[in-house]
Amino acid sequence: MFSSKSFYTVAVAAVALAIPVLGDRNFRVINNCPEGINIFVNGITLGSLSANGGSGVVSEPDDFSGVFYTNANGGNQNGFNTLRAGFEGNGDYYFLVVDNNHFNTEISIRPERPEFFGQFCQTIDCGGIGCEEAFTSFPLYFPPPSNFAPTPPLYTCPPYPNGSGNGYIITFCPNGNFPVPPFPPVLGTGDKGGT
Ligand SMILES: *[C@@H]1O[C@H](CO)[C@@H](O)[C@H](O)[C@H]1NC(C)=O
Repeated sequence: MFSSKSFYTVAVAAVALAIPVLGDRNFRVINNCPEGINIFVNGITLGSLSANGGSGVVSEPDDFSGVFYTNANGGNQNGFNTLRAGFEGNGDYYFLVVDNNHFNTEISIRPERPEFFGQFCQTIDCGGIGCEEAFTSFPLYFPPPSNFAPTPPLYTCPPYPNGSGNGYIITFCPNGNFPVPPFPPVLGTGDKGGT
């Protein structure tokens, strides 16, 4: 078990090996679930966060792309049977990806830069299979950055010109509970078909 403090330390140490830091993008991860949960990024564990508000910060380069999720409540550490919080740093894109086989935890993503122009920097949240604010498979195309907001469920939040506000707050179980009842149940085979 890692405390949220070591979560921070481990994450920063892992990143420090790879990055000649210019810009950094901070991801604050908050666990409001009623149990401690393990956090994974692109299949790699970052350790666990304690129940009811445990949090940690992961610092990544500005162009970081990847997904955050937990294996809690029937999720798989490979990302199957999870809701995933996704980021594509080159376009400042963020999004959620829901797995139609199983819904393990609600997640919200809140950009650090306040919402502006209505369509940019919105807080997004997916509370179950069929939610409007999530893809059902990983998006393969990201449009070039533009003055127009992308089509949901793809969202963007450009930082301020001075670089502030390019981070995100990812909250697991924003309502304080796992989905009740868990729906639908985890399928036996784990075979999702296709790739
Ligand atoms: C960057 O600019 C924004 C908007 O003017 C401001 O709110 C913020 O405090 C600035 N950040 C720094 C580090 O100067």
